[in-house]
Amino acid sequence: MNIENTTTNHTEATELPSQRIKLRHFTLNDVADVFEYASDDRVTEYLTWPSYTNQEDILDVINQYYLSKPGVWAIELLEEKKCIGAIDLRVFEEHEKGGFGYVLNRNYWDKGYMTEALKTLLDYAFNVLKLNRIEATHYVGNEGSGKVMEKCNMKHEGIGHQEVKIKGVFRDVVHYAILRRDWETKDE
Ligand SMILES: CC(C)(COP(=O)(O)OP(=O)(O)OC[C@H]1O[C@@H](n2cnc3c(N)ncnc32)[C@H](O)[C@@H]1OP(=O)(O)O)[C@@H](O)C(=O)NCCC(=O)NCCS
Repeated sequence: MNIENTTTNHTEATELPSQRIKLRHFTLNDVADVFEYASDDRVTEYLTWPSYTNQEDILDVINQYYLSKPGVWAIELLEEKKCIGAIDLRVFEEHEKGGFGYVLNRNYWDKGYMTEALKTLLDYAFNVLKLNRIEATHYVGNEGSGKVMEKCNMKHEGIGHQEVKIKGVFRDVVHYAILRRDWETKDE
């Protein structure tokens, strides 16, 4: 599920706590929760993968992508003990940098959950893994995703016009990044 090649496995096995959520491993018990967001066309609109229509396929997704790749976390809402989304970190050791992707159940949008998840991930990436740079992209049209990145102090680096063709549509790609030195000296 949009988890790209990575060059390391040292993001395995770490549960990352936060205030309202925690980042934890996926389990096969998450199938129904994952199906809830992965079957929603509005959630998948700006993702590389199409919506899932069968809950049975989610078992394969969890096994093939979420459990067998390094650096994939379930976002668990503590209050409900429910998996409301996913976030992953792909580390490129040679460059001491990482990239990430994320997805959230639509019922939980605009409550600051992904900003909280990303801040948790960035803390881990810079303070524990000691990476130098974290970068990410979103497509023009998906401005809420860029807002999350901005709220996490990431800087807009530019737009690649019609950079990719996804589901038959050329997409303009907005690039964001943050360096460790800027994370360490940010306000708050
Ligand atoms: C993108 C996504 C992860 C954001 O998660 P979230 O938990 O709703 O994000 P947050 O609540 O932390 O922050 C969203 C911010 O974007 C703002 N926002 C939402 N839609 C917006 C839009 N169309 N234009 C501008 N800002 C928007 C919200 O108001 C909020 O800002 P605020 O806190 O200042 O009010 C979620 O919408 C999602 O899963 N989308 C589908 C999958 C996806 O697109 N993944 C990213 C691929 S790059």
